[in-house]
Amino acid sequence: MTVKINTKFIQEFVETNELAALEDFVAASHKKIHDKTGAGAEYLGWLDWPSKMEEAELSRLEEAAEKVKSDTDVLIVIGIGGSYLGTKAVQDLLLPAFGAGGTEVIFAGHNISGRYLEELLSHIEGKKVALNVISKSGTTTEPAIAFRILRKWMVDAYGEEAANRIIVTTDEKEGALRKAADKAGYTSFVIPGDIGGRYSVLTSVGLLPLAVAGVDIRSLLEGAALAESTLANPALMENDAYLYAAYRQILNSRGYSVEVMASFEPAMAGINEWWKQLFGESEGKQGKGVFPASVIYSTDLHSMGQYLQDGRRMLFETMVSFTEDQNQTEIPFDEEDGDGLNYLVEKSLHEVNQTAMEATALAHAEGGVPILSLEVPKLDAQHAGYLLYFFMKACAMSAYLSGVNPFDQPGVEQYKQNMFELLGKPGYEK
Ligand code: PA5
Repeated sequence: MTVKINTKFIQEFVETNELAALEDFVAASHKKIHDKTGAGAEYLGWLDWPSKMEEAELSRLEEAAEKVKSDTDVLIVIGIGGSYLGTKAVQDLLLPAFGAGGTEVIFAGHNISGRYLEELLSHIEGKKVALNVISKSGTTTEPAIAFRILRKWMVDAYGEEAANRIIVTTDEKEGALRKAADKAGYTSFVIPGDIGGRYSVLTSVGLLPLAVAGVDIRSLLEGAALAESTLANPALMENDAYLYAAYRQILNSRGYSVEVMASFEPAMAGINEWWKQLFGESEGKQGKGVFPASVIYSTDLHSMGQYLQDGRRMLFETMVSFTEDQNQTEIPFDEEDGDGLNYLVEKSLHEVNQTAMEATALAHAEGGVPILSLEVPKLDAQHAGYLLYFFMKACAMSAYLSGVNPFDQPGVEQYKQNMFELLGKPGYEK
């Protein structure tokens, strides 16, 4: 059970000796990660988190999730960036697309749209609601606004009982949310100080709402723990996360500065968004970084396919596929064959989809797009955990290879300063 890189379509673009030339650099960067000596090393807590997470904390999370599930129709996760994208990603990947059942997990605080919040408020009318407000800093404006509005709704709806329906996930000691939790006596969970937002999906940040949504969080962690040990291998040629990182850097240095994450599985849409944040925020600094974009095929072959095939040649694609046929839906025989599809009879949709991927990869490679392919055997919680960890490890390596700190995001501050100034926040006047 691993994520494997398939180099079939990249070989004509990148020579093995180019990879080999990076071996020492990768080994040095591996040392920086594992000895915690690189830039931002104080945020490497995620590295051994899957194997280190304490059973007591996991049980407490499961208990809290059970309580929410027992008396709640809708759990609203309030958070932005790393405080919600991981949950959304795993939820999209693992839960049924239609009518998942159980407690519905929805999101707020990831935008400042009045329309969105009004629609959310009308959706929860008459339902049993709980809040999980998540912010590491505890001071981020978007979730703070949503929390203020939704907390008032909760107090209006439940009175004093509202406090038993609000769970706070934040820093152990610092920030406005921690103070609010302590003052109001909300159940609270800690985001470890040494794990940054976009690397936090496997902590209480993701695990609590995912457990409520019905995801098997122990299997998720198991898969991540396997990735933790497998991807601790320092050798570039034996470590698929490092190979992925090295290929990205080689391609970027040649002017392929946009990476399009492509999957033929629509359930990957959330992972694509999470991955974009992970790589975009970790690498996009000091004028550097591959721009992360994403598509879902074959849907987007009918919108972006033309560009990918024939537009400006600054793109490479990373195709993620699930190799096992888990559904076996076959195309049925039709006496009349009016649609001419009888040639597909007895082929499963999985086979047709895999063939579409192969055909697309061949066409795009021919069109001058380097293609990396990541193969995941199965779509389940263990493999999801493996995949998440795979990307986090690859991202840290990739950022170190390009010479930036993978764990800070100084550029995110600029808009906040401007917004506070323009809104007249005390202390931010010109
Ligand atoms: O990766 C990060 O650190 C950021 O994207 C944060 O997750 C995001 O800005 C939200 O921050 P906070 O959890 O402090 O509200």
